[in-house]
Amino acid sequence: MTNTDFEKIVDTSDEWITTRTGIKERRIASAEEATSDMAVAACRNALDMASVANEDIDMLILGTVTPDYRLPSCACVVQEKMGLPNAMAFDIVSACTGFINGLSIAQSFIESGKYKKIMVVGVEKLSSITNYHDRSTCILFGDAAGAAVVSAETNGKGVLASFLKSDGRMRELLWISKGGSVNPYISGETLNGSDKIFMNGGDVFKTAVREMGRAAMKVLEEAGVAPEQVGFVIPHQANVRIIESLAKRLGISMDKVYVNIERFGNTSAASIPLALDEANRAGRIKDGDYVLMMAFGGGLTWGASLMKW
Ligand code: ACO
Repeated sequence: MTNTDFEKIVDTSDEWITTRTGIKERRIASAEEATSDMAVAACRNALDMASVANEDIDMLILGTVTPDYRLPSCACVVQEKMGLPNAMAFDIVSACTGFINGLSIAQSFIESGKYKKIMVVGVEKLSSITNYHDRSTCILFGDAAGAAVVSAETNGKGVLASFLKSDGRMRELLWISKGGSVNPYISGETLNGSDKIFMNGGDVFKTAVREMGRAAMKVLEEAGVAPEQVGFVIPHQANVRIIESLAKRLGISMDKVYVNIERFGNTSAASIPLALDEANRAGRIKDGDYVLMMAFGGGLTWGASLMKW
């Protein structure tokens, strides 16, 4: 869906969307394609690339705010569709921070020694919760999935440090007020977009730059890595202005920062694994690079992760 397509449905322009967000296009799943279907496609690619058999996955962690059903978890649907007989599967609901949270949880379970190969998935069908009458949010979001196999290795590579944080006091800056136990659906009621995403973009923007910057510094400090040693940065793709402000704040050149928001928009939990996979397949990440990832989203939630590639 292009910016020109949006010009036909809300009062906006390609020029406004491009200069304010950096987005040109986003991918929209068909009505028949569920969140789990996108996740399965990503998981299959991840298993292929890692040369890991379905039977070897002992945990599936899936970040999403757009599960197939309210019950059961989307992870259980993906487990069945993929055929992962030896996995325990669960969802995490931390919006755009979903993949970073999932990666950190996987790291902890692997360090515990109980689990050996964990599939971490970030997937969203945001088109199902986007209010296409609200020009301030609808132009931002797209649908996507990304996945990674995390395994126990002892070669000094992998996740070196991670930092996770949330602040529920700011939950109404980015939320869906309708459909939960506080405001359940009432038959015949007019919803007026209350069942779709609402966002106070300005406040989210400021908090995102500040907190992702702090989170990044925390993981760098924990690992004893200076910003100038970072080889590659994969930030959550929410707005190119947020990404540029963040790079400036950290003193990291934009040459090292991966940006694909112009083609995908904000895909929430899918954004980081999608960018990671693209950058990896394009050979942009070099062996031994320190790879810094940070995300920010509804909750509010945020976090960062530092890997040695
Ligand atoms: N087209 C044209 N004009 C628009 C549009 C649009 N699509 N959207 C808003 N405007 C107007 C507004 O109405 C406002 O007009 P006014 O001054 O007459 O009132 C003007 O443009 C400026 O609006 P702002 O909201 O101040 O614009 P801003 O520069 O802040 O950009 C944006 C808005 C893109 C949403 C930005 O605030 C942003 O990216 N915020 C952060 C988003 C984010 O990081 N989300 C986190 C994760 S999302 C998740 O967890 C699912």
